[in-house]
Amino acid sequence: MNTKDSLENNSFQQEGQSRLKRFLTGLQPSGKLHLGNYFAVMKKMIDYQTKYDLFLFIANLHSLTTFTDKASIRNFTYDAVCDFLALGLDPDKCTFWVQSDVPEVTELTWYLSMAITHAKLELAHSYKDKVAKGFNPSAGLFYYPVLMSADILAFNADVVPVGKDQKQHLEFARDIAQTFNREFGEAFKVPDPEIDENTAVIPGVDGQKMSKSYKNTINLFDDEKSLKKSVMSIVSDSQGIDEAKNPDTSVIYSIYSLFLNDSEKSDLRQRFLTPGLRYGDVKKELLDRILSEFAPYRKKREDLLKDIPYIEEVLHKGKIKAQTIATEKIKLVREILGIKRV
Ligand code: TRP
Repeated sequence: MNTKDSLENNSFQQEGQSRLKRFLTGLQPSGKLHLGNYFAVMKKMIDYQTKYDLFLFIANLHSLTTFTDKASIRNFTYDAVCDFLALGLDPDKCTFWVQSDVPEVTELTWYLSMAITHAKLELAHSYKDKVAKGFNPSAGLFYYPVLMSADILAFNADVVPVGKDQKQHLEFARDIAQTFNREFGEAFKVPDPEIDENTAVIPGVDGQKMSKSYKNTINLFDDEKSLKKSVMSIVSDSQGIDEAKNPDTSVIYSIYSLFLNDSEKSDLRQRFLTPGLRYGDVKKELLDRILSEFAPYRKKREDLLKDIPYIEEVLHKGKIKAQTIATEKIKLVREILGIKRV
């Protein structure tokens, strides 16, 4: 097929009826959801479902690169799905699915791997870091950016919102799309990244970036006792009660402010600057705030987790929506590559 034909048959052009930009992102199911995930990703996606044509999936195939055991992979996937639904993701307003339910992306991964060199993939930070730490990475980990490119390119994503740590992966996806279009035939939309450089890093209880791997998280849906333990363990300086405290260097202040509007924030700031504040009191307030803020979602999440047939129904609809698009793309790519014979 020549380039002109492939352009005319191009599914991303035929499909481009909807005027809203397609935002696509994937999230690895990694266990308990924490405040860092919520404020950096989930809240934003739930907002985007009303503004854009949102495509969101749980990246369980990527999580195999750090396989632990099958029960965790399975349960974490359900957890992540229920977290999103409980927090307000509406499967009728977006396309929401589990990555492995659309195996077309794994076929596409193979085709895309012809559009990037081994040498380039060796430059991936995610891979290099593991090698530098003395791990002996699997070929799967090495291939991680190609699978991620397939996730993006299969669905004609316009924009991919990701954290800074995924910036290079997005560059791979763009590079692969351009190389494939040029060397084999026009098939892919080149996605733009949306990298949130401005969002302040959400600190964990020890002041480092909140992350499961640092064991410094505050988990949204932990029981009250564990939540209390996490909040009470937030680090603070040794300023005494009768001294003024600095909100700008305070981990308690920066976590608490995530929940506050501007006027509440300036009140809290004032209390920090005025002698007499006890860190313990602020932590108790923060704990109450977390509990009350997430109480309705907590209940909903528990109900959802008990209703697997409903969850499966939601995921099945998402799978069908996503798969319809990926199937078109695979057809086009097979044609371009001569895999489809007649
Ligand atoms: N690698 C991403 C992460 O760990 C998850 C992911 C998989 C993803 N496929 C994607 C993100 C496609 C954006 C687009 O955060």
